[in-house]
Parts: sequence; structure tokens; C-alpha cells
Amino acid sequence: MSQKRAAVILAAGQGTRMKSPLPKVLHPVGGRAMLDRAIDAAEGAGCDRVIVVVGTHSPAVREAAVKRVGEANIAVQDPPLGTGHAVNAARDLLKDFEGAVIVSYADTPLVSSAVLKPVFERAETADLAVMGFDAADPGAYGRLVMQGDNLDAIVEAREATPEQRAITACNSGILACRAELLFSLLAEVKNENSKGEYYLTDIVGLARDRGLQPKVTMASEDDVLGANSQAELAIAERVWQDSVRKAFMDNGVHMPAPETVFFSYDTQIAPGVVIEPNVIFAEGVTVASGAVIRAFSHLEGAKVGEGALIGPYARLRPGADIGKDAHIGNFVEVKNVTVGEGAKANHLSYLGDGSIGAKTNIGAGTIFCNYDGYFKYQTVIGAGAFIGSNASLVAPVTIGDGAMTASGSVITRDVPSDAMAVARGQQVEKAGWAKAFRDKKAAEKAGKT
Ligand code: UD1
Ligand code: CA
Repeated sequence: MSQKRAAVILAAGQGTRMKSPLPKVLHPVGGRAMLDRAIDAAEGAGCDRVIVVVGTHSPAVREAAVKRVGEANIAVQDPPLGTGHAVNAARDLLKDFEGAVIVSYADTPLVSSAVLKPVFERAETADLAVMGFDAADPGAYGRLVMQGDNLDAIVEAREATPEQRAITACNSGILACRAELLFSLLAEVKNENSKGEYYLTDIVGLARDRGLQPKVTMASEDDVLGANSQAELAIAERVWQDSVRKAFMDNGVHMPAPETVFFSYDTQIAPGVVIEPNVIFAEGVTVASGAVIRAFSHLEGAKVGEGALIGPYARLRPGADIGKDAHIGNFVEVKNVTVGEGAKANHLSYLGDGSIGAKTNIGAGTIFCNYDGYFKYQTVIGAGAFIGSNASLVAPVTIGDGAMTASGSVITRDVPSDAMAVARGQQVEKAGWAKAFRDKKAAEKAGKT
């Protein structure tokens, strides 16, 4: 890296096309807010400083940005008067910065550090480097007006002549330039256009007027998709999911219907894992080799051990830590529970807050009663225990190694190791009672007594 790098990320727009109470740049792709993704990319591209430009209309955006880059790197643009005006809001923060500045938008969620790096590299030799792409449908993107190898101007779609609108080479929104030159060009940008905005893109033409040579590096359209509306966001999500599915399959994950499996930005799946159709991985999931995630399961904040079998229709919630070769079956919900090696909870259970020892069997319909409306309590079950079906384990409660509980029990006291606990009404048989009852009722119905 021959010179210092900084990033200015624009996140001050109104995002009106998203038509949502959630600010545009906080919408997620792969479970991660677009703003976070933009910051990740800048940091990954070796930026010494990352500045986020925020507006005043959305405190949530500011809060999210402060969390990542700190108060000292927040520039405020008020009111938002265009992308050029937005970059200019970072002028004071960068007044002592000597090096290259990259400008990127917080609404282009698939831009990674690998996409940004070539733009920085281009800016080391060119006066101004712009990242472009060939758009299948250029729509509202700014058009790159080229002269041979040189970029002459960027023309916004709404300002473009019909000839310019026919150009398919488009502006990604990413550009890099020495700090001093960037701000000196921005000082000349005017708002004489149909939106009355200060367009960042005008600096290209201004650079040409000074005899400078703006250059373009091209990206693939998928890398620089803009997500301005819910429909565009869904396209970005699909492109991202497809690329992650492919990466997992390339790494030996078996998915017969990958298009029905959804991952998060931080999902970790080892080679040799099988994922059946219609599985969702929310944030924070790790799956070890040999595990099988069967159809229609939902996993979040969970760890799945080697060879474990999850689902079909299982729900693993944050803090579910499933041991090697353990089984979590259909309609079993696990939250904040460590499940030991080879333990099984195969059917219809709620296991919340506690631990289950190795080789323990949890019967169908077991409920950890973990909450009294105010506090949560732990259910601790030892190894090799057997919980009979339809048990309510009222926490806090401890069940020792090798202990058994009779099915249908409501367990409110600790059960020692190797003991058997029965906590249910005693059975009584009344000979002939059922027949007598039926005879009586049938006679009543027939009007006889
Ligand atoms: C912009 C580019 C266009 C490019 C496209 C790529 C301009 C004038 N146009 O158009 O050439 O093809 O991105 O996706 O730059 N923002 C502010 N303050 C403002 C206005 C916008 O911070 O006053 C932020 C927005 O939050 C957003 C980004 O800048 O993150 C881009 O703004 P947007 O209005 O979405 O620009 P586009 O019309 O998409
Ligand atoms: Ca945009």
C-alpha cells in the first residue's frame, strides 16, 4: 500500500423509495445491515479512517454508525442536498488527511473489500478512479461517458440525452481520489440540474475541464447492485444467497435444493454437512462436519456438533449447543441449552435454559418450565438420564446422572442420580364402570330412564 486510505460512506439520503419506517441503509442483506456491510468492506480494504455521512432525519442510522466508527468519524449532512454535498460534509474531518479517499454508498450491499481494492489501486496512478459496470438494464444508474480509455463525464439518467441513456456502462457510486483533489473538485460542483442537487458524479466532468484523466475500473453488475427499493433489496439478497450457496457447495456442503436454503453473513458450515431443503440459518450458527440438518429447520445463534442430526422441523435458538451425534427431532425447540454427546430429544419438546448430559434421552412432549413471568431458571439433567414422555420439569431443578422420571410427571424437586421420580396422580381402575356409563347415557338419550 503506497498511500494512506480513507473511506467516506454516504448514508444520509432519505431512502424514500424503500417506503419503510426502517431507514434504507439499515435494511439487511444476509442478516447484516447494508450500512455495516459498507463499513466492513472499507475496513477490509485497508482504510485507516472510515467516515460515515449521516442525516439528522434518522437517529437510528447515526446510532448504528457511531457503534462502528465512533463519534469522531461521523459527518452530518443537514439537509441532504445530494451525493456531492454529502461527501463535502466530511471535508473538515479529513482536512489533515493525506492519501486516497474512496467514496462508497451505504446502499450497495454486495460491495466487498475485494471490490474496493482495485479502485484504490487505480487511484494511485490515475487522477480519479471510478468503478463502473455494464448494466443489463441501466435504468436510473448514472451513465459513464467514455472517450476511448478515458472517462469524460458521468451523466445521471434523468439528465441524460437519449443517446447517453443508451449507454450501458454505468456508475457504481464508488470512486477514489486524493483527498485534496476530491474536495477541491467538490467545491466547484453546482446544483443546476433537474433535482436541484449537488451530484458527486459531476466531479468527473470538472476534473476533465482541468485537464485531468479520470479512469474507470469495471466490476460485475452483481457486485455493485444498488438497493433502493424493497424489490431491489430482494434482488441483492438473492444474488448474495446464491453466491454463498455456491461457496458452501464448492467447499463440500451437500444441498439437494440449495435455492431453498438461506444463510446469514456469519454462518459457518463444515465440509460434509448435509442440508435438506427449506432450512434457514439466522445469525450466529456454526455446524460441524457430518451433521445433517433436515428439512424445514430454523437455526439461530446455535452450535451443531459433529454428526448431529437436527430436524426435520427443529428450531434451534440462541445458546443451543448441540453435542456430537446428538439428535434434535421434529418440533423440538432448544434455547440456551447445552445438549451432551449422543443425547436425544426426538419429538415435540421445549428445552430452554439448562443442560442435558451425554446419552440422556428426552421423551416426547418434555417441557422445561423455565420462566415464572419474572425470572428464568435452569434445568440441569445429568448423563444417561431418561425423561419419560410428557414431563414438565419445573426449574430450577436438577436431575442426576442415570435418573429416570415417569412419563406425565411434573418434576418440582431435584432427582438424585439413579433414582426414579414419579410425580403424577395414581391410577385407579373401576371394573365395568365404562360400560355402565355408556348404558346409562344411551338410555337417557333414548328418553327412557
Ligand atoms: C447514485 C449515483 C449514480 C449511480 C448510483 C449507483 C449520484 C448523483 N448518482 O444514484 O450515478 O449510478 O448511485 O447506485 O451520485 N446520499 C446522501 N446524501 C444525499 C443523497 C444521497 O448521503 O444528499 C446517500 C444515500 O443515503 C445513498 C447514496 O448516497 O446511500 C446514494 O444516493 P441515492 O439517492 O440512492 O443515489 P442514486 O439515485 O442511487
Ligand atoms: Ca442508490
